Amino acid sequence: MAELYQKAYEDLDDYYYKNRNDVVNYIEWLYNHNKDSSLVILATKDNEIIGFIAGDTYYYDKDSSNYVMNIHELVVKKEFRGLGIATQLIYEFINRSKQKNKEKNKKVNGVILWVGKNNQKALKLYTNLGFTIQHKTNKWIKMRMNIA
Ligand SMILES: CC(C)(COP(=O)(O)OP(=O)(O)OC[C@H]1O[C@@H](n2cnc3c(N)ncnc32)[C@H](O)[C@@H]1OP(=O)(O)O)[C@@H](O)C(=O)NCCC(=O)NCCS
Repeated sequence: MAELYQKAYEDLDDYYYKNRNDVVNYIEWLYNHNKDSSLVILATKDNEIIGFIAGDTYYYDKDSSNYVMNIHELVVKKEFRGLGIATQLIYEFINRSKQKNKEKNKKVNGVILWVGKNNQKALKLYTNLGFTIQHKTNKWIKMRMNIA
């Protein structure tokens, strides 16, 4: 997963951890930072990991003062892009989060994520799916999609 992550970001210089240890720690964090809400979903083909999505199924969003899902990471291996894999991962993440929240009697009303402001491909993908821009910092754009 560390290699997939590093290769996926090699054209997007600004936005990723470069040091291998940092990447490994980051992936470890994605899996384990919150035992109740961390969710990682892998996309595989012939036993090879070709993409993954990671986030929190239940996360307090200060901006809206509400609980939401929060997507921290989404990567797809270059050779498999443009096939709808990221889109499928996002829907799968939303569905699994809804299921998990339902089991725990929790409810969220949206999904948020942060994307690099020069990351046109990802921005377009999220916009097409219905995410809208919440606010911007120097480097990052916060996006949100409402969900029932
Ligand atoms: C951003 C990223 C995850 C997108 O992954 P992807 O699997 O290529 O995304 P999708 O295939 O779901 O969607 C991308 C495009 O393919 C199109 N597509 C969807 N299904 C398709 C299909 N069956 N056949 C052809 N194209 C398809 C989508 O409409 C979309 O088109 P667009 O570029 O016109 O918007 C990938 O480019 C990546 O890993 N980038 C580096 C890491 C990164 O930036 N992550 C996001 C951080 S916030």
